[in-house]
Amino acid sequence: MEKFVLSLDEGTTSARAIIFDRESNVLGFGQYEFPQHYPKPGWVEHDPEEIWEAQMRAIKTAIEGAKIEPNQIAAIGVTNQRETTIVWDKSGKPLHNAIVWQCRRTAEMVEEIKRDYGSLIKEKTGLVPDAYFSASKLRWLLDNVPGLRERAEKGEVLFGTVDTFLIYRLTGEHVTDYSNASRTMLFNIKKLEWDDELLELFKIPEGVLPEVRESSEVYGYTKKEILGEEIPVSGDAGDQQAALFGQAAFETGMVKATYGTGNFILANTGKMVRYSDNLLTTIAWGLKGRVTYALEGSIFVTGAAVQWLRDGIKIIKNASETEELARKLASNEGVYFVPAFVGLGAPYWDQFARGLIIGITRSTGREHLARATLEAIAYLTRDVIEEMEALVGIRELRVDGGATANDFLMQFQADILNRRVVRPLVKETTALGAAYLAGLAVDYWEGLEEIKGLWKAERVFEPAMDEETRERLYRGWKEAVKRAMGWAKV
Ligand code: G3P
Repeated sequence: MEKFVLSLDEGTTSARAIIFDRESNVLGFGQYEFPQHYPKPGWVEHDPEEIWEAQMRAIKTAIEGAKIEPNQIAAIGVTNQRETTIVWDKSGKPLHNAIVWQCRRTAEMVEEIKRDYGSLIKEKTGLVPDAYFSASKLRWLLDNVPGLRERAEKGEVLFGTVDTFLIYRLTGEHVTDYSNASRTMLFNIKKLEWDDELLELFKIPEGVLPEVRESSEVYGYTKKEILGEEIPVSGDAGDQQAALFGQAAFETGMVKATYGTGNFILANTGKMVRYSDNLLTTIAWGLKGRVTYALEGSIFVTGAAVQWLRDGIKIIKNASETEELARKLASNEGVYFVPAFVGLGAPYWDQFARGLIIGITRSTGREHLARATLEAIAYLTRDVIEEMEALVGIRELRVDGGATANDFLMQFQADILNRRVVRPLVKETTALGAAYLAGLAVDYWEGLEEIKGLWKAERVFEPAMDEETRERLYRGWKEAVKRAMGWAKV
């Protein structure tokens, strides 16, 4: 009987399930969106029950689409939107909505802590202290949900990121992996343990924390009532780390960029914990007794700026139109767009930056805005790559995510980086990474060499822009960013 691997990719706006075969072909696919809740400006929540429901429906659709039986699933891998914080009781019942990574409700709490403990936090966790990570979100829940702290102290409350919640519901085990733990701002990435000092700082009772395991090992087996079979759940990684794995970026200096709502750029730094002022140091994965580290540049708004063109100012009907519009112009004609809707993440880390369009003349039209938006995505990516290359040698950029279908953007990215941009054949790299991790644990795949052999490029974009043009364009971008920074404080 032929066997397959099921990958669950639980993202910020939708839950997906994908069935892969041994050659990493996609056999079945399910995807369902779930509601976003905005209880106050700047606050973002998800209902864990809605996530679970969307995930279960996606699994069903994927299995039906692949025309297989659950007993043909060799292993299940889980990958997830990171940092998003959930608390639940031992029956699996959520005790509040999930606080999503984008939620800014704890920005002030973190500003205060950062003043005295910023460098300590960076040293221990590799992270630039920010409301983005789980620690302050969990503290907020313990302080604000009536009775939660008391129950937590009695051992009745479990905390986890979305991977942990899903694995708990699937198997009853309360676990996470190194990559997800490294995004909580409570985990010591060198000692590889929850950090007592940080737990005290954020007033977190240790009993709520999951056990931290490798990214590829059997955590438990699905409860019979879920799929009618006991299937090993044996892969777990945060979505950006899973994408790095799915891109077969196993060697030091290999870099991937995922183009989604935001862009997340990760460079494999091997067993070296490298620190950079403006990038995050994070755990890529734990595998066969070894931890691999990465440097990460998180850009909060890229694809979301294209969405804004579509749903906000409504100058396009669908995202793919931007390519045709951008191509109508021979250059940006001096128009730049800095999409700093929620401030700027890496490498600027300015909570007070705001969006800006500059260089407008009487002849500026939709094509300029479309082009400036795509160019901005490429410039922001270069900003991060420039910081990275001070620490690791980078040869090429492997790309994935929705916007990589845009050939104009990919060519412009190669031009502005003056580096090859490589788009893989299998575009579902995040889900694929989780599938590989799960499959490796049950010997579905033999090892990294076999996986490397499965990775294939679909198209390579070679840089073709002359240096003078490239640097002139990039200088214009830097000037525009300068003007966007600090705007909310003016
Ligand atoms: O750190 C947040 C990141 O994991 C979110 O990814 O793909 O759900 O937007 P995505």
